[in-house]
Amino acid sequence: MYVCLCKGVTDRAIREAVSDGARSWREVREQTGCADQCGKCASMGKSIARDAIARE
Ligand code: FES
Repeated sequence: MYVCLCKGVTDRAIREAVSDGARSWREVREQTGCADQCGKCASMGKSIARDAIARE
């Protein structure tokens, strides 16, 4: 599912960024570009990133 329409970032891309080593929402944003434009996806993106980080 698309989390960030502006940048075309999916929940899977966020989880992959975490398995590739991102350990914070900031690092996930740097790797994916999520929430770089309108920011509407920030709260969902952050919650998916935190969940993925907690599972690592
Ligand atoms: Fe992610 Fe706009 S939907 S920055």
